[in-house]
Amino acid sequence: MKKNKISKNWINKQKRDIYVRQSKLEGFRSRAVYKLKEIDEKFKLTKNISTAIDLGAAPGSWSQYLGNKIYKGKILAIDLLKIDPIKNIYFLQGDFTNQKYQNEITDFFKKKVDLIVSDMAVNTTGNKNLDSIVTGELCMEAINFAINNLNENGVFISKIFMGSSFNEIISIGKKTFRELKVFKPASSRKESKESFIICKYLK
Ligand SMILES: C[S@@+](CC[C@H](N)C(=O)[O-])C[C@H]1O[C@@H](n2cnc3c(N)ncnc32)[C@H](O)[C@@H]1O
Repeated sequence: MKKNKISKNWINKQKRDIYVRQSKLEGFRSRAVYKLKEIDEKFKLTKNISTAIDLGAAPGSWSQYLGNKIYKGKILAIDLLKIDPIKNIYFLQGDFTNQKYQNEITDFFKKKVDLIVSDMAVNTTGNKNLDSIVTGELCMEAINFAINNLNENGVFISKIFMGSSFNEIISIGKKTFRELKVFKPASSRKESKESFIICKYLK
């Protein structure tokens, strides 16, 4: 299919998508917010928490959601891309896999945090296997960061793609956390290989 035909199809699909329309009505920057909302409603992530980190935050709908849930506390968001300011969210622009930014995050909180969410994904290359491998690597990096920066009772959530690294990530997650669930929200497109892992209580 030609490139402009693909983008026309994408635009038409966006127009028909109820989550896109709803996000516009509710003032969220992306339909992705409904994935986090569904996860939160099912797994009660934001109850009684005061600190959160949003990895791969642009354009910012998950941060908007967290900002609405955490009134008194600290939230930090990071992305390779710049995001427009969001009230009460401290934003870092940079590559999360770079140790320099991980140190900045640790310095910002100066203590362990309650919640780490990661919706990080690579820009699609067109090669689904490659995309899922690289996104799996981002997830692994986020798990390793969570091990050192999450409270004992903290929660870690990450996007994960069904693909070659899926089983390895689940096995590392199970070794690291006492509870691990895999969940695909209804708002995640059916044709997408994406799911989310919800991990609680570091071992
Ligand atoms: C699906 S989008 C996130 C959408 C976001 N949750 C929202 O609600 O608006 C994935 C993001 O991951 C970011 N990303 C990918 N690799 C990254 C990295 N190494 N460090 C930081 N952000 C990264 C991309 O720039 C992209 O903005």
